[in-house]
Amino acid sequence: MQIPPKENNDCLVKDILMRNFKEIFEVEKKMHELESNLNDEKSLMSYGKLEEQYEKMGGYKVDEKISKVCHGFKIYDMLDRNYNTLSGGEKTIVNLASLMILNPDILLLDEPTNHLDIDTLEWFENFLRNYKGTILISSHDRYFLDKVATKVVLIAHGKEDIYCGNYTYYLKESERRDLAEFEQYKNQQKQIEAMKETIKKLREWGSRGDNPRFFKRAHCIERRLEKMEVLEKPEKKKNLPLDFVIDERSGKDVLTVEDLSISFGSRELLSHINFHLQYGEKVCLMGKNGTGKSTLLKAILNSEYKENIILGSHAMIGYIPQEIHFENEKETILEVARHSFSGTETQLRASLAKFFFYGENVKKRVESLSGGEKVRLKLFELIQKKANILILDEPTNHIDIDTKEMLEEALKEYQGTLFFVSHDRYFINALAERVLNIEDKSIVSYLGNYDFYKEHRKE
Ligand SMILES: Nc1ncnc2c1ncn2[C@@H]1O[C@H](COP(=O)(O)OP(=O)(O)O)[C@@H](O)[C@H]1O
Ligand SMILES: [Mg+2]
Repeated sequence: MQIPPKENNDCLVKDILMRNFKEIFEVEKKMHELESNLNDEKSLMSYGKLEEQYEKMGGYKVDEKISKVCHGFKIYDMLDRNYNTLSGGEKTIVNLASLMILNPDILLLDEPTNHLDIDTLEWFENFLRNYKGTILISSHDRYFLDKVATKVVLIAHGKEDIYCGNYTYYLKESERRDLAEFEQYKNQQKQIEAMKETIKKLREWGSRGDNPRFFKRAHCIERRLEKMEVLEKPEKKKNLPLDFVIDERSGKDVLTVEDLSISFGSRELLSHINFHLQYGEKVCLMGKNGTGKSTLLKAILNSEYKENIILGSHAMIGYIPQEIHFENEKETILEVARHSFSGTETQLRASLAKFFFYGENVKKRVESLSGGEKVRLKLFELIQKKANILILDEPTNHIDIDTKEMLEEALKEYQGTLFFVSHDRYFINALAERVLNIEDKSIVSYLGNYDFYKEHRKE
């Protein structure tokens, strides 16, 4: 997002919004200067002209425009704060508000939903759906794209492919197109084979009977073959081998949380919460930032709250934390992967390659990996572990759409118990059979996926 531009942002939020009306305010200033001595014909004339210009520029509508976006984006109480002191999410909101004030014909939005909380997101989706102008968005938020986009342009291998629908439509349609393309390729290959076979036969017959007519026909077909536009073999999408098998299943009661309270100092995060997970359930833990989701998952993993957190028999946990660290950050990918892998070096390298860690890359130290690479390496470890409970803390944060789709598919197939934190509404919809939402330090259970939660939550 380009706004606010590279100007100095050491100013109040309201100044950022006002910047959009700089020209109008200049006219207004001139009007004020003239106001004090409107005593001759000439100054009255100039004032009249300025006033006309002011109206044309929408000067009288400035307050209304500002108040409309402040209301929608709920930023009234931010107006007098310094822009630089805002959180990432708050900055995003102010930037969007500032952009919307001008109501431009074309909006270019680069990842506009990062950092927005769900309530603001939903308001924003509605706003964009009703927007009169054209909007060009780049986003990894599939739920958002489903709500807002009416056309998808996929750019791959330097070419564009156009899909007249939203994200889910694109997904189905691209699969259909891939299949069709592969069919076409296969049919053409068959045809080519058949033609080559015919040429061979005609030649044989021609030389046996010494008949030039056969050679002529063979030549004809050869010419046709040469002129043919041969289709390239469509590339198959490379899939991560995310096959979460389990070694041994756990008992039916996987996790029982009884009267658990967690505080940091005098601040209580969770107060007397209770919930229960059964074997094979897929449950999403939701809650606003800072409500204690990660803290709860960590509590399940360490034994500090033994009295209140009871794990079932044969429970074997595989965990990906929100912030990924490796025990020894100086180790290389190969070394880290070695700890969890039981095969030979060659097998290990082959397995890593399937996770897109190729060749010399496996010698990279894990501390230097990107967020997405760290998640991939953790997934590699997780696969080896064959755990029967997966506890994943915001696993989709750093990964691209393709990897998300693969992870989603793999987790759908997973037979064990899945307990995960996520803000990714598409991901939650695809996986969750139940949503546990942290509300006022308690857990509220919704017996469905994200859309179910959205429909049934109390406002
Ligand atoms: N070890 C700790 N000591 C003190 N405060 C903590 C600690 N860990 C987390 N917190 C605070 O507890 C709150 C909940 O954190 P967290 O569980 O990470 O929230 P989230 O729901 O976003 O995952 C936050 O305000 C965080 O700053
Ligand atoms: Mg967290």
